[in-house]
Order: sequence, then C-alpha cells, then structure tokens
Amino acid sequence: MEYLTFALAKGRLAKKAMELFENIGIHCEEMKDEKTRKLIFVNEELKMKFFLAKATDVPTYVEYGAADVGIVGKDTILEEGRRLYEVLDLKFGKCRMCVCGPESARVHLQNHELIRVATKYPAIAKDFFYNKKHQTVEIIKLNGSVELAPIVGLSEVIVDIVETGSTLRENGLTVLEEVCPLSARMVVNCVSMKMENERITKIIQDVKKLIEDRA
Ligand code: PRP
Repeated sequence: MEYLTFALAKGRLAKKAMELFENIGIHCEEMKDEKTRKLIFVNEELKMKFFLAKATDVPTYVEYGAADVGIVGKDTILEEGRRLYEVLDLKFGKCRMCVCGPESARVHLQNHELIRVATKYPAIAKDFFYNKKHQTVEIIKLNGSVELAPIVGLSEVIVDIVETGSTLRENGLTVLEEVCPLSARMVVNCVSMKMENERITKIIQDVKKLIEDRA
C-alpha cells in the first residue's frame, strides 16, 4: 500500500484537524511532541504521512500531488486558486472575510469611489470589488497587521479576516461589508481522488459523519 500524505496548515487548524482525525482512528503520536523540529511524521501502521506547512503553501502541495489531502482555510483556497477538489467543510476555524475601515469610509463604498484597499488577500479583494461590486479600486498587498493601513492613511479600507472583531474594535474600525464566510476545509489532489478513491472516500465519509453528529 502507498502512503497517504496529509498537508496541514501550521497552527490552530492543524491542531483541530488532528483532534478531529483522532476520533476516526487517524492519529500520529510523534506529531504531539510540541518541541520537535521534525517536518514530516509517519504512522507506519496506517501507512500515512503528515506534514505541517505554511497555510498559503498547502494548496500548492496538494495541487502538485506532494500531498494527497490538505487541511486549510477557505481564505487560502480562494486566494491561491489552485486546481484541487474541495471536498469537505470541517466547520471549525469559522470567521468572515470582510471589507473594514472607519465608519467614515462607508460613503466611499456607497459612491463606488476609486479608493485604496489594503489586504493580505489581493485576489479575493479584486474578485469582490471588480466582479461583484463593479467598483474600480487600487489594491495594495500587505503581509500582516493590515488594520494599520486605514489608521496611518495607506488605504481607505481593508479586506481582512474578522473572527471576534476585537482587533477592529480596539483600533476604531468596523465591518463595512461582508465578502464571504470562512472555515477550515479538506482538499484533495485530483489524481489522488481517482487513484486512492476508496481510502479517501472513507476518510471523507467518516469525518462528515463525525461533524454531523457533533452539530
Ligand atoms: C487575523 C486577521 C485579523 C485578526 C482578526 O490576523 O488578519 O487581524 O486575526 O481576529 P479578531 O476579529 O478575532 O480580532 P492574524 O492574527 O492571523 O495576523 P496578522 O495580523 O499577521 O494578519
């Protein structure tokens, strides 16, 4: 039997995904050691391998088949636009992609003005403003702490993830429009879906049942 390889987005999503997998008999003891510098973990019994990757790289590993299965946020899937199958909404890591800014920026949206939009997600922002709102904007790519942009005058608004809303509140910003809801998803390589259909389908079915029972 070939190894089935999983790519997990480093951090909270990976932890939650492994918790979920444990309930359906998929586990990896050597991954629980938080001090380890190892990059890849193996369960010989199950013929499975697991690795942690930067979230934005997970769709790349899955598209090229370096991983058969990936666990990653919908935000990253949308932004990366890779060729892969999104097979399951895991219902954790729930948050929203939003257009945010000071209340005073609302009028710029209403009037479809040529404003500046700062974001870590230029593809999502572009799709939203150009294809959905039919508003021409200037998109400025940032790599983090995006909430700074409207505060220091880099942009009128931002497109960013809102979870609890506390980052916005503490910085005098607010949600002006919702782009889409987000959560963790399971993605599968297109060739693996055919070659390893039985094993992958079983995992999808088991996880699906677990999520439904929990709801
Ligand atoms: C994310 C996001 C917001 C924040 C939202 O940032 O970009 O800044 O979390 O969460 P909240 O609504 O619960 O406050 P992250 O911490 O991932 O880091 P970043 O600032 O580097 O983007």
